[in-house]
Amino acid sequence: MVEFALPANSKINKSGKKHPAPAGATKTKTFRVYRWDPDSGETPREDVYEVDMDNCGPMVLDALIKIKNEIDPSLTFRRSCREGVCGSCAMNIDGTNTLACTKFCSDVDDGDEVKIYPLPHMPVVKDLVPDLNQVYAQYASIEPWLKTTTAAPERERLQTPEDRKKLDGLWECILCFSCSTSCPSYWWNGDRYLGPAVLLQAYRFIADSRDEETGSRLDNLEDPFRLFRCHTIMNCTKTCPKGLNPAKAIAEIKKLMVERKV
Ligand code: SF4
Ligand code: FES
Repeated sequence: MVEFALPANSKINKSGKKHPAPAGATKTKTFRVYRWDPDSGETPREDVYEVDMDNCGPMVLDALIKIKNEIDPSLTFRRSCREGVCGSCAMNIDGTNTLACTKFCSDVDDGDEVKIYPLPHMPVVKDLVPDLNQVYAQYASIEPWLKTTTAAPERERLQTPEDRKKLDGLWECILCFSCSTSCPSYWWNGDRYLGPAVLLQAYRFIADSRDEETGSRLDNLEDPFRLFRCHTIMNCTKTCPKGLNPAKAIAEIKKLMVERKV
């Protein structure tokens, strides 16, 4: 398991509110959850919830939804698809960035608390909701759509099965940003380094045989910070909940940078 540094708030009140299990519950699990409303002026805290697992789904997201519906409606988190395709429930669970909807509560040993924090080193909007404005602006900066210079064919632009295969391992990215927020280079230089998620997306269009702007895309990345702040630490690849390899995509871009100069 890879453990990542948690949000940069130096002070966290570890003795937040405690919500005991309902009377009669026989199989319980304890969730220790980061709580902070930046507008409140209060110190961030950890609240503790004991959940009756006999009446709860198996995933961490099931437990969070149960807590919000039945114990504490003030708990705030993002979720949508509940099946690992929208990327909105990414958070730090038990020290690892992952998706709450695909993480089993049982992955944390019985008797241990399930610790839940927002994605590390991001500004917090509230509780488990990180502010993603910066990463989305960076995503927009790589112009994530097919760009062409030749006249449009009568029907669609075709691609051979071999060329289509080159996109495997790239198109599956759900932009959860678990990888970028696990990367020390992104923690320290996130304002200038694009980070693994955005660079994997950049490579997804560079690698697409239908795109005709490879040169300008590489020009856009040729920068000591935007691309070359990647130091191949590999946390991104270790943590990706979709099993993708952003470090490899970044290496491919670096290779193309070198090849076009020789
Ligand atoms: S590469 Fe993986 S961890 Fe990174 S944004 Fe895409 S799906 Fe999430
Ligand atoms: S709710 Fe969509 S990925 Fe988890």
